[in-house]
Amino acid sequence: MPVPDEGATEFFLSPDDRRHGILGLVRELELDELTVLRGRGLLLRTWLPEDLPDVLAACQDPEIARWTTVPSPYLSEHAEVFLAGSALRWVQGLASFAVIEQATGELLGSIGFVGLPEDGVVEVGYWISPGARGRGAATAATRVICDWAFDELHFHRVEWQAYVGNEGSRRVAQRCGFTFEGTLRERGFQRGEFRNVWVAGLLASDPRPDLPDLLPRSHQSARE
Ligand SMILES: CC(C)(COP(=O)(O)OP(=O)(O)OC[C@H]1O[C@@H](n2cnc3c(N)ncnc32)[C@H](O)[C@@H]1OP(=O)(O)O)[C@@H](O)C(=O)NCCC(=O)NCCS
Repeated sequence: MPVPDEGATEFFLSPDDRRHGILGLVRELELDELTVLRGRGLLLRTWLPEDLPDVLAACQDPEIARWTTVPSPYLSEHAEVFLAGSALRWVQGLASFAVIEQATGELLGSIGFVGLPEDGVVEVGYWISPGARGRGAATAATRVICDWAFDELHFHRVEWQAYVGNEGSRRVAQRCGFTFEGTLRERGFQRGEFRNVWVAGLLASDPRPDLPDLLPRSHQSARE
């Protein structure tokens, strides 16, 4: 089971770290790539090579291109690099989960920590495949990862950021109990341009609202 590192306020630079360059300069947060989180109809697990076709298909979506920094156009080699980089992200403290429907094993999306976690604060980021939207998948996955971040990793604050105008993502954060805190001017850099960024936060001491589990596909709400 992953445990928070009690010496997390110190930098570490062992000879082994020096060989790995940047890894020696990040704050230590020991995460276990084999962590599996279950809840709300979902299973969150690390990425596997066989996820490539699903990742490649999902990332053709113009909404993912519009609201995230995934490469666009998204090619097979991008998915290969993403999947091959999963283990390194975990070593860096960037939890990186595939979001799986527990009942069917279907890959619904991606969720994880973005930006290096520090001083008890971590940012969460996600996307859901177009065909899996409207079932509460993003809301359920965000809740599962927040519960883990607070209750097991003992983070103090989980942060959410999105480019201004991403109403869907903002609604997900709101449903999970995040407090909207404002707009950071040109805080984001996407495809050669600075973009304004919305920010919201959920504290360990904040109430976490009751939420439904992932809805079955038959209850999927149409949204265009
Ligand atoms: C935003 C996104 C993650 C939502 O995923 P999802 O699984 O469909 O979201 P949920 O089903 O949990 O929806 C939660 C709420 O948001 C609302 N919502 C979802 N997409 C919406 C949209 N485009 N516009 C307005 N509201 C939206 C839902 O209606 C629901 O509200 P309700 O509880 O009042 O019914 C998904 O559309 C996506 O991946 N978008 C592209 C990538 C992206 O924006 N990532 C986030 C970057 S910060």
